[in-house]
Amino acid sequence: MPYQRALPFGALADGDAQRVVVAGQAILVSRIDGVPHAVTDVCPHNGASLAEGTLKDGCVTCPAHLWRFSVVDGRRQGRPDVRIAVFPCRMTDDGWVEVDVPEQVAPTSLREALLAHARQGPVR
Ligand code: FES
Repeated sequence: MPYQRALPFGALADGDAQRVVVAGQAILVSRIDGVPHAVTDVCPHNGASLAEGTLKDGCVTCPAHLWRFSVVDGRRQGRPDVRIAVFPCRMTDDGWVEVDVPEQVAPTSLREALLAHARQGPVR
């Protein structure tokens, strides 16, 4: 899927993050040291919105159970084998952050996987 506009870069202060919906998916766009980054807004533990958490030193802390993830590379702090989805993003000449979000993101939490499975209906 081509890059799509997420928000004006000027809407983010450095060290700040904001939830946006791009191509129907909740994305957390942040600005760290003057560079935009984009990760999923869905916590892989139990699906909480990471945008409701706090961002400090390039890591977002989930408000539900305090897991911390880098918004740069998506790794969970202390458990680098657990990651959140990171999406390519870029700045446009007219000052927008654009994000390249795949059309379908695989479920990233057990809750999402179970919901996706349940929506498929009975197996025939
Ligand atoms: S839902 Fe994010 S840590 Fe539990």
